[in-house]
Amino acid sequence: MIKRFGDFTAVDGIDVDVQAGEAFGFLGPNGAGKSSTMRMIGCVSPPTDGVLEILGMDPRRDGSAIRARLGVCPQLDNLDAELTVRENLVTYARFFGISRATARRRADELLDFVQLGERADSKTEPLSGGMKRRLTIARALVNEPDIVLLDEPTTGLDPQARHLVWERLFRLKQQGVTLVLTTHYMDEAEQLCDRLVVMDGGKIVAEGSPRELIERHSTREVVELRFTAEDQGMYGEKLDGVADRVEVLPDRVLLYADDGDYALAEVHRRSLSPASALVRRAGLEDVFLQLTGRTLVD
Ligand SMILES: Nc1ncnc2c1ncn2[C@@H]1O[C@H](COP(=O)(O)OP(=O)(O)OP(=O)(O)O)[C@@H](O)[C@H]1O
Ligand SMILES: [Mg+2]
Repeated sequence: MIKRFGDFTAVDGIDVDVQAGEAFGFLGPNGAGKSSTMRMIGCVSPPTDGVLEILGMDPRRDGSAIRARLGVCPQLDNLDAELTVRENLVTYARFFGISRATARRRADELLDFVQLGERADSKTEPLSGGMKRRLTIARALVNEPDIVLLDEPTTGLDPQARHLVWERLFRLKQQGVTLVLTTHYMDEAEQLCDRLVVMDGGKIVAEGSPRELIERHSTREVVELRFTAEDQGMYGEKLDGVADRVEVLPDRVLLYADDGDYALAEVHRRSLSPASALVRRAGLEDVFLQLTGRTLVD
């Protein structure tokens, strides 16, 4: 699937196959092409080239039939500021031809689901960013979709709000809903996704389950070293061969090794004294760094 804007190729020939009932993620930095991909899947922006099939249908021919079975949470909340929280859901449901009575009942259920019941009669403007996000997610569910598209569902939310969203999305998945989401948070991808692709510059650079990706592209553990400003640069060649791979970032040095404690002991044996040292399990951030040489969130 390809998406071009003029001469610029935003999505450069990606090939993905999402199974019914799974949670599938697009992980990548700013500008990777995640939203462009989501808009094609959401049938709001046709692919420039390639084949796209959703629920066995062709978006060019069956766009409205597909959209009726999709729930869409766009990257930026586009709630109606003129309406109350509840009316946002009811009005949206009416676009799908859902009766007013059903729409009202469903709106109240969904507001409970995203813990916004108490705000049902307030306007949307005074809501916090996290509340608006939850309302947008609730709105994506009014038509009881088979597939929910979530473009960065938790960007900008505080940890508590993120965990609530994760927990609700997990429940949806348990109910059999297919989730397709984008994120540049590796922990979100690890928490939610059965399978994911790592995108960079419009291309897929890796594909698999979080565990598979980590096993394939990283060591089991990582040692994060920080040096004081004076010591910065002093470690030079002293770190050569101390681990399977040494990654020098502007603010820290990462040592990739299956046994992090052993690598750290080796650092000390070489008379290096970092200001701080932390041994942790490798994650998707490390996969991304290994694949692209860059960190995921700048
Ligand atoms: N309508 C458009 N016209 C021209 N260029 C576009 C358009 N939409 C997206 N692009 C470009 O395509 C590239 C991919 O954008 P996209 O929004 O898909 O990235 P993204 O992975 O969602 O990034 P982010 O994490 O910042 O949301 C970017 O370079 C962007 O500037
Ligand atoms: Mg985006």
